[in-house]
Amino acid sequence: MAKINLKLLKIEAKKEIKKTESLDYLNKIFDKYLGKKGIVSEVLRSLKSLPQTKRKKTGEAANDFKREIGELIEERKKIFQNAGYKIQDTHFDITAPGKKPVSGHLHPLTLARKEVEEIFENMGFSVVEGPEMESEWYNFDALNIPKDHPARDQWDTFYLENGLLLRTHTSPVQVRYMEKNNPPLRIITIGRVFRHEATDASHEVNFYQLDGLMVGKDVNVANFKAVIQEFFRRFFEKPVKIRLIPSFFPFVEPGFQVDMTCLNCEGKGCSVCSQTGWLEMMGAGMVHPNVFKNSGLNPKFWQGWAFGMGFDRLAMMKYKINDIRLFYSGDLRFLNQF
Ligand code: FA5
Repeated sequence: MAKINLKLLKIEAKKEIKKTESLDYLNKIFDKYLGKKGIVSEVLRSLKSLPQTKRKKTGEAANDFKREIGELIEERKKIFQNAGYKIQDTHFDITAPGKKPVSGHLHPLTLARKEVEEIFENMGFSVVEGPEMESEWYNFDALNIPKDHPARDQWDTFYLENGLLLRTHTSPVQVRYMEKNNPPLRIITIGRVFRHEATDASHEVNFYQLDGLMVGKDVNVANFKAVIQEFFRRFFEKPVKIRLIPSFFPFVEPGFQVDMTCLNCEGKGCSVCSQTGWLEMMGAGMVHPNVFKNSGLNPKFWQGWAFGMGFDRLAMMKYKINDIRLFYSGDLRFLNQF
C-alpha cells in the first residue's frame, strides 16, 4: 500500500466536509474515508505489515482520524437534518421533463357572460351593474309590484335582518339606471339573483339573470324583436325563430313571454321542450308608465322595452348542459370540459 499521510488527509477531509451541500454527498465522504472499504480501514488493515515501531503510531493516528472526522460528519449531518434536508438524493436532473403547471380557466357562466356582453356592446348597449342586496323599493315598489304580490311572499324572497333583501331579479337595475341617466338608453345587466325555491334540473336558489332595457322617443316592439333575434343568431351562431305570447308582469304593459325554437330538436319536439318545439326564454314587454314615473322620467315623452331572462338557461342551451346545478357544484369533471 502506498504511504498515506494521515495529517494531510485529515485537512483534505475537513475541507470536503465543509463544502458539502447535501446529505447524499456527505454519505459519500463517509464511505470514502471511514467506510469499510475506505482509506482509514485500509490503513488499519495494513498495520500488521508495518514494523513494530511504526505500527503503534500509525494505529493511533488512524483512530484519531476516524474519531475526529466521524464527529465532524455527524455534526454536519445534524445541520442538514435540522434545516429540513431529507436523507435522499438531492441530485437534480436538468434533462428530466418538467412538470406542467395546472392552469385555471374561466367558468362556463363567465364564458357565456363575456360573449353576451360583447354581442350587446356591438349593438350599442352599455353593460351596467346593480347591488345584489336590494331595498324593497327597487326590487318591488318601483317596479309596480304591489304589496300583496305573491313574489313579495317570504317564501320566495330572502329578507335580511338589516331591512334589505336579496334581489329576486335583475330588473331593479333598470330603475336605478333610469334615475341617473337620461334617454335615449340602451343597457343590459347580468347578475346574481336569489329565490327561496326547491331546486331541480332547471331551478336554483342562486342563479343569474340577464336584463335588457331600451328607451327612446319611439322605441317599439319591432325593435325588441329585431334585437333579440339578432342576439340569438349571434350567440347560437345560427338563425333562431322566436315567438311572442301575451303574458303578465306588473312592470310592463303590454307584457309577453318570448319563446325560441328548441335547438335540441330544431323545433320538431323533444323531451327538452316538452314535445312543443319551443322553449320559454324570457319575460319582456313595454316599460309600464308607473316604472318611468318611479324612475323620474315622464312616460308622455319616453317609451321603451325591457326584458329579463334566465342566464343559466341560456348558457345551458349553448353548451348543451342538462342540469343547472352543475354550474354551482364545483365538480372539476364538469368544469374541466370548458
Ligand atoms: C322576471 O324575473 C322578470 N324580472 C323578467 C322581466 C324583465 C319581465 C323585464 C319583463 C320585463 P321571471 O320570474 O319569469 O321574470 O324570471 C325570468 C327568467 O329567470 C325565467 O324565464 C327563467 O329562465 C329564469 N328563472 C326563474 N326562476 C329560476 C330559478 N329558480 N332558477 C333558474 N332560473 C330561473
